[in-house]
Amino acid sequence: MFLSVFFCLTLIANVKAERSQPKNIFLLGGQSNMSGRGGNYNDTNNIVRWNGKIPPECASNKNIHRLNANKTWVPAHEPLHQDIDVLKTCGIGPGMPFANEILAKVPTFGSIGLVPCAIGGTRIAMWGRGTVLYNRLVDRANASLNCGGKIRALLWFQGESDTSKEDSKLYKSRLENFINNLRQDLNISELPVIMVGICSADQGPYMNLIRSIQLNYNDTNVRTVDAMGSTFLADHKHLDTKSQIRVGQKLAAAFLSSFDGLHPK
Ligand SMILES: *[C@@H]1O[C@H](CO)[C@@H](O)[C@H](O)[C@H]1NC(C)=O
Ligand SMILES: *[C@@H]1O[C@H](CO)[C@@H](O)[C@H](O)[C@H]1NC(C)=O
Ligand SMILES: *[C@@H]1O[C@H](CO)[C@@H](O)[C@H](O)[C@H]1NC(C)=O
Ligand SMILES: *[C@@H]1O[C@H](CO)[C@@H](O)[C@H](O)[C@H]1NC(C)=O
Ligand SMILES: *[C@@H]1O[C@H](CO)[C@@H](O)[C@H](O)[C@H]1NC(C)=O
Ligand SMILES: *[C@@H]1O[C@H](CO)[C@@H](O)[C@H](O)[C@H]1NC(C)=O
Repeated sequence: MFLSVFFCLTLIANVKAERSQPKNIFLLGGQSNMSGRGGNYNDTNNIVRWNGKIPPECASNKNIHRLNANKTWVPAHEPLHQDIDVLKTCGIGPGMPFANEILAKVPTFGSIGLVPCAIGGTRIAMWGRGTVLYNRLVDRANASLNCGGKIRALLWFQGESDTSKEDSKLYKSRLENFINNLRQDLNISELPVIMVGICSADQGPYMNLIRSIQLNYNDTNVRTVDAMGSTFLADHKHLDTKSQIRVGQKLAAAFLSSFDGLHPK
């Protein structure tokens, strides 16, 4: 406690408001669609690039911060996962439109801190307790509270990599274990989780199973928003910017209607 107060005072003395501790913290986990690929395209050498287009729904805002890879609060801007999902080309994801929508709907909400942790192509088994991804999520969550603030929810967009016969059968128990362990390790027994129900135009039986596990998750503090109706990049795999905005706004609506007791809509 003393150390942490000392550290925060040192920070304030040295670097001013830019690194100020946000009040409302959201953890972002999952795979590529959470990391964000909106606006990505292949250039003439077939290298994936981001087009750099940031629509107003995804714009930076002085009340939206992100915890960078260095575990420092900095002003948030797209691509939110740029220094986290470093092996991929990151683009627009649901995080910025989520935060902007909350501030648009509830101007008195207070500052928002986003903690990006998603990595493209990850199966849920790779997020089990004790794994690199799990430990990093817990570690970054802890660091996000260094100078105060409150973790308000985990946003989770994942499941595509578990659409094999074997993995889909184990998805329900793996997801439950992940959520329960995280709540325990963060010591937030009722941590709200808002996840995205995955879908695709040509979904097979295993994607249907994952989707139904997500949409029917039975927990007072878990909500699922539906990605059905999304539009995709030329790769037919990732949500485009328009659909990421839609998903981000759905996540915000779910949070405000279910978990924001302080500011009822
Ligand atoms: C990360 O933090 C260290 C120590 O605070 C600092 O020296 C370094 O410049 C930071 N790196 C980035 C990329 O922010
Ligand atoms: C996170 O914080 C909790 C409570 O302060 C502590 O019990 C736990 O060991 C910490 N975990 C890590 C990975 O730092
Ligand atoms: C966990 O949280 C409860 C209250 O929410 C608190 O009383 C308790 O001290 C915390 N435990 C740890 C290990 O931080
Ligand atoms: C991205 O999300 C869409 C919509 O749920 C899904 O169809 C697609 O498989 C996902 N892609 C990846 C790589 O997760
Ligand atoms: C949902 O969970 C509650 C409380 O744990 C339980 O009583 C209920 O039977 C469960 N419903 C289903 C459909 O599994
Ligand atoms: C880029 O090209 C590769 C190879 O043709 C293809 O698999 C991929 O889906 C393309 N990605 C995008 C974002 O268009």
